[in-house]
Amino acid sequence: MKTLRFISILAAVALLAAIQPARADEGMWLPALISQRIGDMQAKGFKLTAEDIYSVNQASLKDAVVLFGRGCTGELVSGDGLIFTNHHCGYGYIQKHSSVEHDYLKDGFWALSRAEELPNPGLTVSFLEYMQDVTAQVLEGYSEGMSEEQRAQIVRQNSKKLIDAAVAPGKGLTASVEALFYGNQYFLFVFRVYSDVRLVGAPPSSIGKFGGETDNWMWPRHTGDFSIFRIYADANNAPAAYSPDNKPYQPKKFFKVSRAGVKEGDFTFVYGCPGSTREYIYSEDVRYTAEVSDPHKIALRTTRLEKMKKYMSQSQAVRIQYSAKYASVANAWKKWQGEAKGINKMKTVATKKAYEARFRQWASGTRYEGLLDRIEALIAQRNPYYFAYEYYNETVRTIELVQMASAFKAAFPSLDVIKSRAEDFFKDYYRPIDEEIFTAMMTAFGANIDQSLQPQFYKDQIAKYGSVEAWKDAVFAGSVFTSKEKILALKAEDLETLKTDPAWEISEAFRNWYNETVFPVLSSTNRAISLAYRDYMQGQMDFEKDKDFYPDANLTLRVAYGYVAGYSPADGIDYRPVSTLKGIIEKDNPDIFDYNIPQVLRDIYAQGGHEAQPVCFLATNHTTGGNSGSPVLNADGNLIGINFDRVWEGTMSDIAFDPEFCRNISLDVRYLLFIVDKVGHASYLFDEMVFAD
Ligand code: ARG
Ligand code: GLU
Repeated sequence: MKTLRFISILAAVALLAAIQPARADEGMWLPALISQRIGDMQAKGFKLTAEDIYSVNQASLKDAVVLFGRGCTGELVSGDGLIFTNHHCGYGYIQKHSSVEHDYLKDGFWALSRAEELPNPGLTVSFLEYMQDVTAQVLEGYSEGMSEEQRAQIVRQNSKKLIDAAVAPGKGLTASVEALFYGNQYFLFVFRVYSDVRLVGAPPSSIGKFGGETDNWMWPRHTGDFSIFRIYADANNAPAAYSPDNKPYQPKKFFKVSRAGVKEGDFTFVYGCPGSTREYIYSEDVRYTAEVSDPHKIALRTTRLEKMKKYMSQSQAVRIQYSAKYASVANAWKKWQGEAKGINKMKTVATKKAYEARFRQWASGTRYEGLLDRIEALIAQRNPYYFAYEYYNETVRTIELVQMASAFKAAFPSLDVIKSRAEDFFKDYYRPIDEEIFTAMMTAFGANIDQSLQPQFYKDQIAKYGSVEAWKDAVFAGSVFTSKEKILALKAEDLETLKTDPAWEISEAFRNWYNETVFPVLSSTNRAISLAYRDYMQGQMDFEKDKDFYPDANLTLRVAYGYVAGYSPADGIDYRPVSTLKGIIEKDNPDIFDYNIPQVLRDIYAQGGHEAQPVCFLATNHTTGGNSGSPVLNADGNLIGINFDRVWEGTMSDIAFDPEFCRNISLDVRYLLFIVDKVGHASYLFDEMVFAD
């Protein structure tokens, strides 16, 4: 009887394991320490070893991953230095090469030979040579009881020594020491930086940015978000400034491309450079984000977006002027909505509070006793100032006239620089939008910043003019910064008069207020909080001895793994994890800018046979901003996709990961191949790639 029951339990467990896909995985793991996770990865389907992911002795997958520019990831896909990244990561470079005659953003760009590839001054890609735990060296000379200033000085000095020693022998090497776990651990990262990186190909924006702001952070998604570059090196394969004599870089390792495709449940992992997460913060910090900061910032941005949209829909010229500005305001706006909603839905604050109650109990009598009360008090002390800082950024500093005044202040007294900034500025300036934003933002500032914290200047202006509206009229009528002609006509002897311009005065007065009233408290409390968080982090690790902790993201190389999966965003809706060309044709609409596909794509589709062409897919990998362009790999370590987004219902994963809702969105590499071939007619690029299947 007993045995029978035992067997049936076993059977039930086995059955459950068979029908349930492996559980989603939270975590962004350090490649050098991946051996702590490799067992779990292999249990979930991964077929390679820890040494394959990261090794200093032999070529490994890490040698095929680069930090692209300053905030994206890219991956090597050929023995001749070819790399893939996102369209939105290459955007600025594609734009710089564009002119009225050659609009590569609009029409796409395809180098049909290596001679046609376009250099990009300022663009670098960085390879990680190695990473190393240097905690002991960094803290050498530090002892318990020293002040935080002393500690910081020791960390600085020791880090500098380590960095100097690491970069001394090499050419093109840079290094940094990064604090992990709030400074409980330090790692040395040594990079080799290549600066001759050329544009090879990019689809038209109507493919690379298909869906625009409408589909951004959303599923179902159909964006062909890729661009292609090539790294060049000197005759010794070493980094070198651009030269026509440079040769395609010969990598230690590059990814093979898999055309086998993905299906629900397949193991995937993402190898890239996530920018920033805050997984271990105190409940009150989470509450501030979800209940105060996000909602206020969302409301302010909703207003700004409405103002822009109103004028953009009335004029094609204004639409072009403001589309990039609109996109950048809308991106975080949408992300914050998902973040706040996700935190509330997950009850993260309550979960953290319950955890903190257990922590407090455990901590009594240890060196952590009282720590959480201290953190709570510090946060309460900081938050009014933090709020003022965030509010200042999202109101006063979003007024373009004030931005221009700040730019002039920075350029002062160079008349040439001031004039060239004015040229740039007015190209994309539409005064009625700015006037409305001024009124709305200054009104919100007065309504939401506590009287006691408001700058005297602000109160004086309101008293003087009687209303924000009247103040606004006076500023716009009285400022020379509203007129390009007046600025371009400025003479050296007029320079001093700029300082009494009403826009300059606003910029100056608010900056002084920030420096004198907000910053001192904000920076000292922030320092104290990070210090307390260092203890709390160590405390959490001591409290949960059996848990594997991953450090918060800080743009260092990480591995996230999971599996291909859809999700249910709301009752009654189930999202499948794969999108296809059929869906692009369904969305296609020449009258809707975001959904107007190029005619060539319609023609290709009309030929038939491409309905099932895969475009994007969803998976459970834990990613964040900076993971854009990251290689998405299968169980064999072959390239199946390029990461470019998350679903908005899962954006709280920067603070708390919910396996039910957190999904990263990837371009299926087969869509890239399809576009390169059919739209770019650049299938010659396939000759240098290696296909795994
Ligand atoms: N949401 C993606 C990422 O942060 C893509 C952003 C670019 N695309 C766009 N439609 N704005 O950041
Ligand atoms: N699009 C983001 C980036 O530029 C990735 C999306 C996210 O996961 O935040 O890195």
